[in-house]
Amino acid sequence: MLIRADFVHFPQLKNVEILHDHVLAVDETGYISHFSPASSEESQTLLSQDADVTVIPRGSFVLPTFCDLHLHAPQFLYQGTGLHLPLMEWLSGYAFKAEERLDADPELAKRVYERLAENLVANGTGAVLLFGTIGVDTNIILAKAMQDVGIRAFVGKVSMDISSRPTYKEHTASAALATAEAFVDRANALRAPLEPHRRLVEPVLTPRFVPACSDALLNGLGELATRTGARIQSHLAEARDEVDLVKADRGVDDFEVFDRSKLLTPLTIQAHCTFSSKEDLAGLAARGTAIAHCPLSNAYFSAKPLPLREALDRNVRVGLGTDVAGGYSIDIMVAMRWAVGVSRMREGGRSEALKHEVQDSTKGADTRSVDIDWREAMFLATRGGAAALGLSSGAFVVGTPFDAQRIYLFDPESLPRGAGALDFFDLGLGGEAQDLSTEMIEKWWCLGDERNRTGMWVQGHKVGPWR
Ligand code: GUN
Ligand code: FE
Repeated sequence: MLIRADFVHFPQLKNVEILHDHVLAVDETGYISHFSPASSEESQTLLSQDADVTVIPRGSFVLPTFCDLHLHAPQFLYQGTGLHLPLMEWLSGYAFKAEERLDADPELAKRVYERLAENLVANGTGAVLLFGTIGVDTNIILAKAMQDVGIRAFVGKVSMDISSRPTYKEHTASAALATAEAFVDRANALRAPLEPHRRLVEPVLTPRFVPACSDALLNGLGELATRTGARIQSHLAEARDEVDLVKADRGVDDFEVFDRSKLLTPLTIQAHCTFSSKEDLAGLAARGTAIAHCPLSNAYFSAKPLPLREALDRNVRVGLGTDVAGGYSIDIMVAMRWAVGVSRMREGGRSEALKHEVQDSTKGADTRSVDIDWREAMFLATRGGAAALGLSSGAFVVGTPFDAQRIYLFDPESLPRGAGALDFFDLGLGGEAQDLSTEMIEKWWCLGDERNRTGMWVQGHKVGPWR
């Protein structure tokens, strides 16, 4: 398959590359086998030989798919509900109830998870790291829904042997460990019959968070991860009520608890880290553990934003998460906008505070700004998220999987104004297809939505509806 288009990617922080009129070839197993300007000799030869050419019109572009590093699949059932509560009360009042309901009703679980998969595709998410419920069967339903739609999904059966809801927990650490292992085996059995490049769904060990797990459970999951090489995910230092509870109960903080159970590894992604100190961020970097930054959810539950710039400066791998339903939107574009907005407010606060302080040079006050811009957010949503998952995708590079979305900026016939076509008249572009510019991409970043997305590929396969 050949695609002739304008390609846009963000291979490093701050670096937007617009590759005008390029030809990209995808091999039978979904990897990029060629990528160069259409005018190059090799592209011309390929174009003359291959009948299967998709041409994307000027003014539109092909972009890597988004990665969502943190989403609670069962909570999709009640997005946007009860967000006035503090985290621990919200979990008891909403999250655990909804999860228990899906574990008791496989038909409902199937409907919710199929709808979730459709919505992820509509929003350009090609790879997703999921929290499920505690029930093994329900998580197999989730894994199948993702496999059937064809996106990359890392599925976590939640482990928890402590709960404010007596009917929603595993009764002993050893029972919880047995079900965690049973889920890993069953999810691996789903993958095994597929050709290696079609194995897009993978199990993940998922201790819910420190307050929900005994030391015996955490230690056991750490051993299971070491023995099986499985991925790990959890929540780390998320909210005031949560960190206070951990400190009061265990006398140490989340980082220490996870670390001593060997749960901070290069295969671990921790959501939030809003209450992490600079030393903890350096500790995550040293262990190779990545962060799922969920700014919308943090705005409601965390009381503090993630020190994002500080994490990036310390070479922690960071990507974005929606944290549905702590975050009410499944759209990574919303997560990107919140990431930029939150970082700008942090920077405003920091520079205001500096103005009022007499700077003490012996302290080596950090005078670097801490905000990020839209290009950095795009990196986090694409290549950054993929790198956090240890994937080579997320930018258009020969030898890596072709995971991409097709964005139509304006095509007056199929997307009339008000139905997805962006209002480029403001820029004096007259509504005609123009050569793609950074300004146009920025405008799409600010104002675009799922109506601009007309198709998606994962590992070279078309997924979801195309228009
Ligand atoms: N911490 C433990 N469980 C959850 C959850 O379901 N959502 C959020 N936002 N934080 C959690
Ligand atoms: Fe979460």
